[in-house]
Amino acid sequence: MRLTLDEVAALFDVANVTIHSMVRLGVLAAALAVTLFNAPAIGAPGAYGEYYSYNPPSRDGTGKVYMGREIAHVMGHRGANWLERPEREQKERTDLLIELLALRVGETVADIGAGTGYFALPMATMVGPTGVVLAVDIQPEMLGIIEERARADNIANVELILATETDPMLPANAVDLVLMVDAYHEFSGPREVMEHIVDALSEDGRIVLVEYREEDRAVPIKRLHKMSVVQATREMAAVGLVLDEVHDNLPWQHIMVFRPGSDAAPGS
Ligand SMILES: C[S@@+](CC[C@H](N)C(=O)[O-])C[C@H]1O[C@@H](n2cnc3c(N)ncnc32)[C@H](O)[C@@H]1O
Repeated sequence: MRLTLDEVAALFDVANVTIHSMVRLGVLAAALAVTLFNAPAIGAPGAYGEYYSYNPPSRDGTGKVYMGREIAHVMGHRGANWLERPEREQKERTDLLIELLALRVGETVADIGAGTGYFALPMATMVGPTGVVLAVDIQPEMLGIIEERARADNIANVELILATETDPMLPANAVDLVLMVDAYHEFSGPREVMEHIVDALSEDGRIVLVEYREEDRAVPIKRLHKMSVVQATREMAAVGLVLDEVHDNLPWQHIMVFRPGSDAAPGS
């Protein structure tokens, strides 16, 4: 919870007429502590909202925990070259991934955590001029790279969206496919982001989540940058999504397809 000093003062006024003065002081002190230090207490669930708790960060993590999973650090734009490494297609079979998406001309696709546009740009070509790819990222530098590449390749149907950590800024009920590749595990507000994504889906919309397989120790990726199907399914169920398909034909990653469904447990 974040309170302004005015809100703290208002809280005190209300308390003034309703509760004993010692309690009032306690409330005021707690609210002031949250306001002034603005930092979650270690291990205190709900310090910034009911969904998250906080632990001392592990080597590769933020210390922020969502549904038992520590959220990884965001990959900075200085690592952009890694996303474009020449061996990526062959090592990760990104060609198979794109094929499996089975995009149709005219579709609206959102690539959340688009990075350098590794997927957004080819997808824009596949949905054709009547379709559009919304390339969403929180780092303006990443969006700058996509813009430059789109211009160089004469691709006009990519829209750049500068997101916040909790809101991908998508249009409501309009997106046919939401793709997240190697990105979701580093979203610092996964619950809020997913709630917005669900609102953005078109009637038959689907979400494709691609993450390195946590279940497979041979996948040479840091632990917090991997996710298991069980964990992903749990987190998606919390916003009303059900697992529709899992494809494990890529060398290192799960491809998990989620859709809104009545079997999920929203709000869990
Ligand atoms: C490891 S990169 C993957 C990029 C791309 N999907 C790919 O596979 O080439 C993860 C990207 O997610 C972005 N990101 C992190 N948190 C985000 C959030 N809350 N909303 C949107 N993008 C985010 C980062 O800025 C980064 O560009």
